[in-house]
Amino acid sequence: MTMRRIAVMTSGGDSPGMNPAIRAVVRTATSYDVEVYGIRQAFSGLLAGDFERMTNRDVSGIIQRGGTILQTARNLEFKTPQGQKRGLRRLNEHGIEGMIVIGGDGSLRGALSLHNLGFPVIGIPGSIDNDIWGTNMSIGVDTALNTILDAIDKLRDTASSHERCFLLEVMGRNCGYLALMGGILGGAEFIMIPEHPTTLEQLGAALEDAYMRGKSHAMGVIAEGATPTVREVADYLSQHEIGFEVRVTVLGHVVRGGSPSAFDRLLATRMGTSAVERLIAGETGVMIALDGRDISTVSLEDATTKQRAVSETYFKMAEVLAK
Ligand code: F6P
Repeated sequence: MTMRRIAVMTSGGDSPGMNPAIRAVVRTATSYDVEVYGIRQAFSGLLAGDFERMTNRDVSGIIQRGGTILQTARNLEFKTPQGQKRGLRRLNEHGIEGMIVIGGDGSLRGALSLHNLGFPVIGIPGSIDNDIWGTNMSIGVDTALNTILDAIDKLRDTASSHERCFLLEVMGRNCGYLALMGGILGGAEFIMIPEHPTTLEQLGAALEDAYMRGKSHAMGVIAEGATPTVREVADYLSQHEIGFEVRVTVLGHVVRGGSPSAFDRLLATRMGTSAVERLIAGETGVMIALDGRDISTVSLEDATTKQRAVSETYFKMAEVLAK
């Protein structure tokens, strides 16, 4: 039986590129004469029955906008079996036959729970953290990295003018991808990520050495999930007189905002288009993935249970290039 009506939602932390993904979903579905309903505020909106019909005109002028026009939320009730059944009931009440969920690991787990109840669902990885297993990149990572590089470049100007060591904390939850890649591409002197613990003593000694070798400043990129934390590092370095004065910048949610980069617009557009084509062709329980240069799928089960590892090769490269 052909699908006549599908829904789309964005869920979890927003990420730049979610809007181009929504646009691609709506316009691709329309081209197949399939109606699209937008669900506002993710699983909270699903439970509240907050659905709205979307036409091609509703997604005009959003390809360049950060955030998500459908808004997003983190919902606890949908994690319970009762919440999931209520969600399915709402979908049935609105005559929805399939759904596309754009979001991070928690959101994809929500999508999987609907699939397990027999409802057709496809996930699209949207998260700045790049912590989702099975895809090279998630939507929003490239834009977030560019924001981090912009911050590092600007901080380096003032760091070198004052002979200072800057500590830049970046988001990523328990994943060090953004800090590691930002650090390598921004030429950081050191990088701290949860997957590769460093002691305060090792760090202090390395920085003291850099100072004595004549470096005019130092830049450290620290993942928000790293231990020791950015505050502990700052206190230690300030107390141990490593040579450089120390300053801290926490980038916070700035990393999640901004106009999606060319890469993210393309990725979101390809993933949105593919998700619709696969959903109406009868696929379910999968996440759209970037595999090399190709768009493919992995199972939602694998995407939400397997752990993505941060490359040790990149970490070693960072250490060599920081000398
Ligand atoms: O998962 C995306 C993310 O931005 C993480 O990097 C960060 O730890 C978290 O969300 C912040 O969540 P919130 O916006 O709810 O404070």
